[in-house]
Amino acid sequence: MQQLIRGRVLDFHADPALTEDNHRHIEDGAILIEDGRIVAVDDYARLARPDLTVIDHRPHLILPGFIDPHIHFPQVQVIASWGAQLLDWLNTYTFPEEARFADPDHATRMAGLFLDQLTAHGTTTAVAFCSVHANSVEALFAAAEARSMAVVAGKVLMDRNAIPEVQDTAQQGYDDSKRLIDAWHGRGRQRYAITPRFAITSTPEQMRATGQLAREHPDCHIQTHLSENLAEIEFTLSLYPGARDYLDVYETYGLLSERLLLGHCIHLRDREIARMAETGSRAVFCPTSNLFLGSGLFDEAGLRAAGVTSGIATDVGGGSSYSMLQTLNEGYKILQLRGQKLHPLTAFHWATRGNAVVLGMADRIGTLAPGSDADLVVLDMRATPAMALRAERAETLAEELFILQIMGDDRAIAQTYVAGRPMKAPL
Ligand code: GUN
Ligand code: ZN
Repeated sequence: MQQLIRGRVLDFHADPALTEDNHRHIEDGAILIEDGRIVAVDDYARLARPDLTVIDHRPHLILPGFIDPHIHFPQVQVIASWGAQLLDWLNTYTFPEEARFADPDHATRMAGLFLDQLTAHGTTTAVAFCSVHANSVEALFAAAEARSMAVVAGKVLMDRNAIPEVQDTAQQGYDDSKRLIDAWHGRGRQRYAITPRFAITSTPEQMRATGQLAREHPDCHIQTHLSENLAEIEFTLSLYPGARDYLDVYETYGLLSERLLLGHCIHLRDREIARMAETGSRAVFCPTSNLFLGSGLFDEAGLRAAGVTSGIATDVGGGSSYSMLQTLNEGYKILQLRGQKLHPLTAFHWATRGNAVVLGMADRIGTLAPGSDADLVVLDMRATPAMALRAERAETLAEELFILQIMGDDRAIAQTYVAGRPMKAPL
Protein backbone atom coordinates (compact mmCIF):
# COMPACT_ATOMS: atom_id res chain seq x y z
CA MET A 1 0.00 0.00 0.00
CA GLN A 2 1.30 3.45 -0.90
CA GLN A 3 1.16 6.41 1.48
CA LEU A 4 1.85 10.08 1.03
CA ILE A 5 3.53 12.06 3.78
CA ARG A 6 3.02 15.78 3.30
CA GLY A 7 5.01 18.70 4.77
CA ARG A 8 8.03 20.91 4.18
CA VAL A 9 10.58 18.48 2.83
CA LEU A 10 14.33 18.97 3.31
CA ASP A 11 17.21 16.72 2.40
CA PHE A 12 20.85 17.05 1.43
CA HIS A 13 22.82 15.73 -1.52
CA ALA A 14 26.17 17.33 -0.59
CA ASP A 15 28.01 18.79 2.39
CA PRO A 16 27.09 22.49 2.78
CA ALA A 17 30.59 23.16 4.11
CA LEU A 18 31.96 22.13 0.69
CA THR A 19 29.34 22.88 -1.94
CA GLU A 20 26.83 25.65 -2.64
CA ASP A 21 24.39 23.25 -4.27
CA ASN A 22 23.77 21.00 -1.29
CA HIS A 23 20.09 20.66 -0.35
CA ARG A 24 16.53 20.43 -1.63
CA HIS A 25 13.74 22.22 0.20
CA ILE A 26 10.16 21.79 -0.99
CA GLU A 27 7.76 24.16 0.74
CA ASP A 28 4.60 22.09 0.09
CA GLY A 29 6.28 18.76 -0.51
CA ALA A 30 5.40 15.12 -0.16
CA ILE A 31 7.14 11.77 0.17
CA LEU A 32 5.51 8.76 -1.46
CA ILE A 33 6.32 5.54 0.40
CA GLU A 34 5.58 1.88 -0.15
CA ASP A 35 6.75 -1.23 1.73
CA GLY A 36 9.11 0.78 3.91
CA ARG A 37 10.87 2.45 0.98
CA ILE A 38 10.72 5.89 -0.59
CA VAL A 39 9.16 5.81 -4.05
CA ALA A 40 9.22 9.52 -4.91
CA VAL A 41 9.66 13.01 -3.46
CA ASP A 42 8.09 16.03 -5.12
CA ASP A 43 5.64 18.91 -4.76
CA TYR A 44 2.52 17.64 -3.04
CA ALA A 45 0.40 18.70 -6.02
CA ARG A 46 2.40 16.48 -8.36
CA LEU A 47 2.16 13.36 -6.18
CA ALA A 48 -1.42 13.69 -4.87
CA ARG A 49 -3.90 11.07 -6.10
CA PRO A 50 -7.43 10.39 -4.91
CA ASP A 51 -6.62 6.80 -3.87
CA LEU A 52 -3.69 7.73 -1.58
CA THR A 53 -3.79 8.05 2.19
CA VAL A 54 -2.21 11.39 3.09
CA ILE A 55 -0.59 12.17 6.43
CA ASP A 56 -0.36 15.93 6.63
CA HIS A 57 2.52 17.27 8.75
CA ARG A 58 2.36 20.87 7.54
CA PRO A 59 3.84 23.26 8.67
CA HIS A 60 6.52 20.95 10.04
CA LEU A 61 9.79 20.03 8.33
CA ILE A 62 10.36 16.44 7.19
CA LEU A 63 13.97 15.24 6.95
CA PRO A 64 15.70 11.87 6.78
CA GLY A 65 15.79 10.41 10.30
CA PHE A 66 18.76 11.28 12.48
CA ILE A 67 21.69 8.87 12.63
CA ASP A 68 23.63 8.46 15.88
CA PRO A 69 26.98 6.81 15.05
CA HIS A 70 28.23 6.31 18.64
CA ILE A 71 26.06 5.36 21.61
CA HIS A 72 26.22 2.82 24.45
CA PHE A 73 23.06 0.76 24.81
CA PRO A 74 23.84 -0.58 28.36
CA GLN A 75 24.29 2.98 29.65
CA VAL A 76 20.62 3.99 29.62
CA GLN A 77 20.80 4.05 33.43
CA VAL A 78 24.31 5.52 33.58
CA ILE A 79 23.43 8.81 31.88
CA ALA A 80 23.61 11.68 34.42
CA SER A 81 26.10 10.09 36.85
CA TRP A 82 27.84 12.76 38.88
CA GLY A 83 31.31 14.08 39.35
CA ALA A 84 33.82 11.94 37.46
CA GLN A 85 36.04 12.06 34.41
CA LEU A 86 36.46 9.15 32.01
CA LEU A 87 38.42 6.46 33.88
CA ASP A 88 36.75 7.02 37.27
CA TRP A 89 33.39 7.30 35.56
CA LEU A 90 33.90 3.92 33.88
CA ASN A 91 35.01 2.20 37.09
CA THR A 92 32.53 3.85 39.45
CA TYR A 93 29.36 3.88 37.43
CA THR A 94 29.63 2.27 34.03
CA PHE A 95 31.19 -1.16 34.49
CA PRO A 96 28.92 -2.07 37.46
CA GLU A 97 25.87 -1.01 35.48
CA GLU A 98 26.95 -2.94 32.38
CA ALA A 99 27.39 -6.04 34.59
CA ARG A 100 23.60 -6.10 34.99
CA PHE A 101 23.26 -6.97 31.29
CA ALA A 102 24.37 -10.52 32.01
CA ASP A 103 20.69 -11.00 32.83
CA PRO A 104 18.82 -11.57 29.53
CA ASP A 105 15.54 -10.26 30.97
CA HIS A 106 17.19 -7.00 31.97
CA ALA A 107 18.89 -6.70 28.57
CA THR A 108 15.61 -7.33 26.75
CA ARG A 109 13.69 -4.78 28.81
CA MET A 110 16.43 -2.16 28.34
CA ALA A 111 16.71 -2.84 24.58
CA GLY A 112 13.07 -1.93 23.99
CA LEU A 113 13.29 1.15 26.17
CA PHE A 114 16.55 2.22 24.51
CA LEU A 115 15.08 2.06 21.00
CA ASP A 116 11.96 3.86 22.22
CA GLN A 117 14.19 6.69 23.46
CA LEU A 118 16.01 6.87 20.14
CA THR A 119 12.86 7.18 18.06
CA ALA A 120 11.27 9.59 20.57
CA HIS A 121 14.29 11.81 19.87
CA GLY A 122 14.07 11.43 16.08
CA THR A 123 16.94 8.96 15.69
CA THR A 124 16.24 6.15 13.26
CA THR A 125 19.65 4.45 13.08
CA ALA A 126 22.25 4.03 15.82
CA VAL A 127 25.68 2.48 15.99
CA ALA A 128 25.72 0.97 19.45
CA PHE A 129 28.20 -0.53 21.87
CA CYS A 130 26.51 -3.36 23.78
CA SER A 131 27.84 -4.94 26.99
CA VAL A 132 30.43 -7.72 27.07
CA HIS A 133 27.59 -10.26 27.18
CA ALA A 134 26.51 -11.74 23.85
CA ASN A 135 22.90 -11.80 25.05
CA SER A 136 22.90 -7.97 25.22
CA VAL A 137 23.57 -7.89 21.46
CA GLU A 138 20.90 -10.52 20.83
CA ALA A 139 18.43 -8.42 22.81
CA LEU A 140 19.22 -5.23 20.93
CA PHE A 141 19.12 -6.79 17.46
CA ALA A 142 15.88 -8.61 18.26
CA ALA A 143 14.23 -5.38 19.42
CA ALA A 144 15.53 -3.51 16.36
CA GLU A 145 14.35 -6.24 14.01
CA ALA A 146 10.88 -6.14 15.57
CA ARG A 147 10.78 -2.41 14.71
CA SER A 148 12.40 -2.86 11.21
CA MET A 149 15.04 -0.46 12.47
CA ALA A 150 18.57 -0.36 11.04
CA VAL A 151 21.01 -0.84 13.92
CA VAL A 152 24.75 -1.43 13.81
CA ALA A 153 25.95 -3.02 17.05
CA GLY A 154 28.45 -5.30 18.67
CA LYS A 155 29.48 -6.82 21.98
CA VAL A 156 32.36 -5.02 23.64
CA LEU A 157 35.59 -6.98 23.70
CA MET A 158 37.31 -6.34 27.06
CA ASP A 159 39.62 -8.78 28.81
CA ARG A 160 41.43 -6.60 31.38
CA ASN A 161 41.29 -3.49 33.55
CA ALA A 162 37.66 -3.92 34.54
CA ILE A 163 35.66 -5.83 37.15
CA PRO A 164 35.46 -9.57 36.33
CA GLU A 165 31.70 -9.37 35.67
CA VAL A 166 32.35 -7.40 32.48
CA GLN A 167 35.42 -9.22 31.23
CA ASP A 168 35.71 -11.86 28.53
CA THR A 169 38.87 -13.53 27.27
CA ALA A 170 40.53 -13.16 23.89
CA GLN A 171 39.17 -16.54 22.77
CA GLN A 172 35.66 -16.14 24.20
CA GLY A 173 35.37 -12.62 22.80
CA TYR A 174 36.42 -13.87 19.38
CA ASP A 175 34.03 -16.85 19.49
CA ASP A 176 31.06 -14.77 20.70
CA SER A 177 31.67 -12.06 18.09
CA LYS A 178 31.94 -14.67 15.34
CA ARG A 179 28.67 -16.31 16.37
CA LEU A 180 26.89 -12.96 16.54
CA ILE A 181 28.21 -11.96 13.12
CA ASP A 182 26.99 -15.22 11.62
CA ALA A 183 23.58 -14.83 13.24
CA TRP A 184 22.94 -11.12 12.71
CA HIS A 185 25.22 -9.37 10.24
CA GLY A 186 23.15 -8.60 7.14
CA ARG A 187 19.96 -10.13 8.60
CA GLY A 188 17.24 -7.67 7.56
CA ARG A 189 18.51 -4.21 8.44
CA GLN A 190 20.93 -5.36 11.16
CA ARG A 191 24.70 -5.00 10.81
CA TYR A 192 27.49 -6.06 13.12
CA ALA A 193 30.29 -3.83 14.44
CA ILE A 194 33.39 -5.53 15.82
CA THR A 195 33.79 -3.68 19.12
CA PRO A 196 37.07 -3.61 21.04
CA ARG A 197 36.02 -1.20 23.80
CA PHE A 198 39.36 0.66 23.83
CA ALA A 199 43.03 -0.23 24.12
CA ILE A 200 43.03 -0.06 27.93
CA THR A 201 40.55 -2.91 28.33
CA SER A 202 42.07 -5.26 25.75
CA THR A 203 45.29 -7.28 26.08
CA PRO A 204 47.55 -7.54 23.03
CA GLU A 205 46.20 -11.09 22.63
CA GLN A 206 42.65 -9.75 22.40
CA MET A 207 43.72 -7.02 19.98
CA ARG A 208 45.26 -9.74 17.79
CA ALA A 209 42.00 -11.69 17.84
CA THR A 210 40.17 -8.47 16.97
CA GLY A 211 42.45 -7.96 13.97
CA GLN A 212 41.66 -11.51 12.86
CA LEU A 213 37.91 -10.83 13.11
CA ALA A 214 38.40 -7.66 11.06
CA ARG A 215 40.28 -9.59 8.36
CA GLU A 216 37.68 -12.36 8.28
CA HIS A 217 34.75 -9.91 8.11
CA PRO A 218 35.91 -6.91 6.08
CA ASP A 219 32.35 -5.66 5.56
CA CYS A 220 31.69 -5.32 9.30
CA HIS A 221 32.26 -1.98 10.94
CA ILE A 222 34.76 -1.68 13.77
CA GLN A 223 34.04 0.73 16.60
CA THR A 224 36.22 1.84 19.49
CA HIS A 225 37.46 4.94 21.34
CA LEU A 226 40.54 7.08 20.69
CA SER A 227 42.19 9.92 22.62
CA GLU A 228 39.22 11.09 24.63
CA ASN A 229 40.99 11.97 27.87
CA LEU A 230 44.60 12.77 28.84
CA ALA A 231 44.80 10.18 31.64
CA GLU A 232 43.40 7.58 29.23
CA ILE A 233 46.15 8.33 26.71
CA GLU A 234 48.89 8.11 29.34
CA PHE A 235 47.56 4.78 30.65
CA THR A 236 47.26 3.39 27.12
CA LEU A 237 50.83 4.25 26.24
CA SER A 238 52.03 2.61 29.47
CA LEU A 239 50.16 -0.58 28.52
CA TYR A 240 51.50 -0.57 24.95
CA PRO A 241 55.04 0.76 25.41
CA GLY A 242 56.02 -0.15 21.86
CA ALA A 243 53.26 1.97 20.30
CA ARG A 244 54.27 5.22 18.59
CA ASP A 245 51.02 6.79 19.78
CA TYR A 246 47.48 5.72 20.75
CA LEU A 247 46.28 5.14 17.18
CA ASP A 248 49.31 2.94 16.57
CA VAL A 249 47.81 0.32 18.90
CA TYR A 250 44.85 -0.06 16.55
CA GLU A 251 47.09 0.27 13.49
CA THR A 252 49.42 -2.51 14.69
CA TYR A 253 46.52 -4.96 14.76
CA GLY A 254 45.21 -4.00 11.32
CA LEU A 255 42.07 -2.12 12.32
CA LEU A 256 42.47 1.09 10.29
CA SER A 257 40.10 1.47 7.34
CA GLU A 258 37.01 3.36 6.18
CA ARG A 259 34.98 0.94 8.33
CA LEU A 260 36.68 2.07 11.57
CA LEU A 261 34.70 4.48 13.76
CA LEU A 262 36.86 6.19 16.37
CA GLY A 263 34.88 7.87 19.14
CA HIS A 264 36.15 11.25 20.43
CA CYS A 265 39.56 11.87 18.74
CA ILE A 266 40.20 15.00 20.82
CA HIS A 267 43.88 14.95 21.79
CA LEU A 268 45.50 13.69 18.59
CA ARG A 269 49.08 13.95 17.42
CA ASP A 270 49.88 14.96 13.83
CA ARG A 271 50.93 11.43 12.88
CA GLU A 272 47.62 10.04 14.08
CA ILE A 273 45.65 12.59 12.07
CA ALA A 274 47.71 11.87 8.96
CA ARG A 275 47.20 8.10 9.30
CA MET A 276 43.47 8.53 9.86
CA ALA A 277 43.28 10.58 6.67
CA GLU A 278 45.38 8.10 4.66
CA THR A 279 43.36 5.09 5.78
CA GLY A 280 39.93 6.78 5.70
CA SER A 281 39.35 5.97 9.38
CA ARG A 282 36.45 8.04 10.75
CA ALA A 283 36.44 10.37 13.74
CA VAL A 284 33.22 10.67 15.74
CA PHE A 285 32.61 13.92 17.64
CA CYS A 286 30.58 13.44 20.84
CA PRO A 287 29.93 16.97 22.12
CA THR A 288 27.62 16.45 25.11
CA SER A 289 29.89 13.68 26.37
CA ASN A 290 33.07 15.70 25.89
CA LEU A 291 31.59 18.53 27.96
CA PHE A 292 29.93 16.27 30.55
CA LEU A 293 33.10 14.24 31.22
CA GLY A 294 35.33 17.31 30.87
CA SER A 295 37.28 15.56 28.11
CA GLY A 296 38.19 18.42 25.78
CA LEU A 297 37.31 20.33 22.62
CA PHE A 298 37.10 18.49 19.28
CA ASP A 299 38.91 20.17 16.39
CA GLU A 300 36.43 19.75 13.54
CA ALA A 301 38.10 22.20 11.15
CA GLY A 302 41.58 20.81 11.82
CA LEU A 303 40.51 17.25 11.05
CA ARG A 304 38.56 18.35 7.99
CA ALA A 305 41.55 20.30 6.64
CA ALA A 306 43.72 17.21 7.14
CA GLY A 307 41.25 15.10 5.14
CA VAL A 308 39.59 13.20 8.00
CA THR A 309 35.84 12.58 7.74
CA SER A 310 33.94 13.09 11.02
CA GLY A 311 30.56 12.02 12.31
CA ILE A 312 28.65 13.52 15.22
CA ALA A 313 27.05 11.41 17.95
CA THR A 314 25.48 11.42 21.41
CA ASP A 315 27.72 8.89 23.25
CA VAL A 316 24.96 8.29 25.82
CA GLY A 317 25.62 7.62 28.75
CA GLY A 318 28.84 9.69 28.83
CA GLY A 319 26.74 11.91 26.62
CA SER A 320 23.95 13.67 28.46
CA SER A 321 21.15 13.61 25.86
CA TYR A 322 19.68 11.20 23.31
CA SER A 323 18.77 14.20 21.18
CA MET A 324 20.79 14.84 18.04
CA LEU A 325 19.39 18.40 18.20
CA GLN A 326 20.95 18.89 21.63
CA THR A 327 24.10 17.21 20.30
CA LEU A 328 24.26 19.81 17.50
CA ASN A 329 23.61 22.54 20.08
CA GLU A 330 26.55 21.52 22.26
CA GLY A 331 28.63 20.87 19.13
CA TYR A 332 27.99 24.45 18.06
CA LYS A 333 29.26 25.73 21.41
CA ILE A 334 32.39 23.55 21.45
CA LEU A 335 33.27 24.79 17.98
CA GLN A 336 32.65 28.38 19.14
CA LEU A 337 35.27 27.81 21.85
CA ARG A 338 37.59 26.59 19.08
CA GLY A 339 36.88 29.70 16.97
CA GLN A 340 34.96 27.52 14.46
CA LYS A 341 31.40 27.87 13.17
CA LEU A 342 28.75 25.17 12.77
CA HIS A 343 26.23 26.55 10.27
CA PRO A 344 22.71 25.11 10.65
CA LEU A 345 22.69 23.65 7.14
CA THR A 346 26.01 21.93 7.87
CA ALA A 347 24.65 20.75 11.22
CA PHE A 348 21.51 19.13 9.79
CA HIS A 349 23.51 17.62 6.95
CA TRP A 350 25.89 16.15 9.54
CA ALA A 351 23.18 14.48 11.61
CA THR A 352 21.60 12.92 8.50
CA ARG A 353 23.54 12.39 5.25
CA GLY A 354 26.91 13.24 6.82
CA ASN A 355 26.65 10.44 9.36
CA ALA A 356 25.35 8.09 6.66
CA VAL A 357 28.46 8.84 4.58
CA VAL A 358 30.62 8.16 7.63
CA LEU A 359 28.97 4.73 7.88
CA GLY A 360 29.16 4.03 4.14
CA MET A 361 25.37 3.67 4.15
CA ALA A 362 24.34 6.87 2.31
CA ASP A 363 22.56 4.92 -0.42
CA ARG A 364 19.95 3.68 2.08
CA ILE A 365 19.70 6.13 5.00
CA GLY A 366 20.26 9.84 5.62
CA THR A 367 18.64 10.52 2.25
CA LEU A 368 15.19 10.80 0.67
CA ALA A 369 16.33 9.40 -2.68
CA PRO A 370 13.90 6.96 -4.34
CA GLY A 371 14.70 3.38 -3.28
CA SER A 372 16.11 4.43 0.09
CA ASP A 373 14.53 3.41 3.39
CA ALA A 374 11.59 5.51 4.60
CA ASP A 375 13.25 6.60 7.86
CA LEU A 376 12.04 10.12 8.56
CA VAL A 377 11.95 12.74 11.28
CA VAL A 378 9.26 15.44 11.44
CA LEU A 379 10.46 18.61 13.17
CA ASP A 380 8.31 21.26 14.85
CA MET A 381 10.24 24.50 15.18
CA ARG A 382 7.47 25.94 17.41
CA ALA A 383 7.46 23.03 19.84
CA THR A 384 7.76 25.21 22.94
CA PRO A 385 6.45 28.71 23.67
CA ALA A 386 10.01 30.06 23.67
CA MET A 387 10.73 28.45 20.29
CA ALA A 388 7.44 29.76 18.84
CA LEU A 389 8.27 33.26 20.04
CA ARG A 390 11.70 33.14 18.41
CA ALA A 391 10.24 31.59 15.25
CA GLU A 392 8.05 34.67 14.70
CA ARG A 393 11.21 36.50 13.66
CA ALA A 394 12.81 33.76 11.56
CA GLU A 395 13.00 34.71 7.89
CA THR A 396 15.13 32.04 6.26
CA LEU A 397 15.35 28.26 6.30
CA ALA A 398 18.76 28.54 7.98
CA GLU A 399 17.32 30.68 10.77
CA GLU A 400 14.51 28.19 11.30
CA LEU A 401 16.93 25.29 11.43
CA PHE A 402 19.11 27.15 13.90
CA ILE A 403 16.16 27.51 16.31
CA LEU A 404 15.78 23.72 16.19
CA GLN A 405 19.54 23.21 16.51
CA ILE A 406 19.87 25.38 19.62
CA MET A 407 16.49 25.13 21.36
CA GLY A 408 15.18 21.77 20.12
CA ASP A 409 14.95 18.44 21.90
CA ASP A 410 12.45 15.56 21.92
CA ARG A 411 9.58 18.05 22.22
CA ALA A 412 10.43 19.21 18.69
CA ILE A 413 10.03 15.69 17.27
CA ALA A 414 6.46 15.70 15.94
CA GLN A 415 6.85 12.23 14.47
CA THR A 416 9.50 9.64 13.59
CA TYR A 417 9.00 7.08 10.82
CA VAL A 418 11.04 3.88 10.74
CA ALA A 419 10.72 2.00 7.44
CA GLY A 420 7.54 3.99 6.80
CA ARG A 421 5.92 3.22 10.18
CA PRO A 422 5.13 6.03 12.66
CA MET A 423 6.87 5.44 15.99
CA LYS A 424 5.04 8.09 18.00
CA ALA A 425 1.31 8.23 18.61
CA PRO A 426 -0.17 10.85 16.26
CA LEU A 427 -0.98 14.11 18.07
N1 GUN B 1 36.02 4.71 26.60
C1 GUN B 1 35.90 3.38 26.86
N2 GUN B 1 34.64 3.07 27.19
C2 GUN B 1 33.94 4.20 27.15
C3 GUN B 1 32.57 4.52 27.39
O1 GUN B 1 31.75 3.69 27.73
N3 GUN B 1 32.23 5.82 27.24
C4 GUN B 1 33.12 6.78 26.86
N4 GUN B 1 32.70 8.04 26.73
N5 GUN B 1 34.40 6.52 26.65
C5 GUN B 1 34.82 5.24 26.77
ZN1 ZN C 1 31.65 5.88 23.80
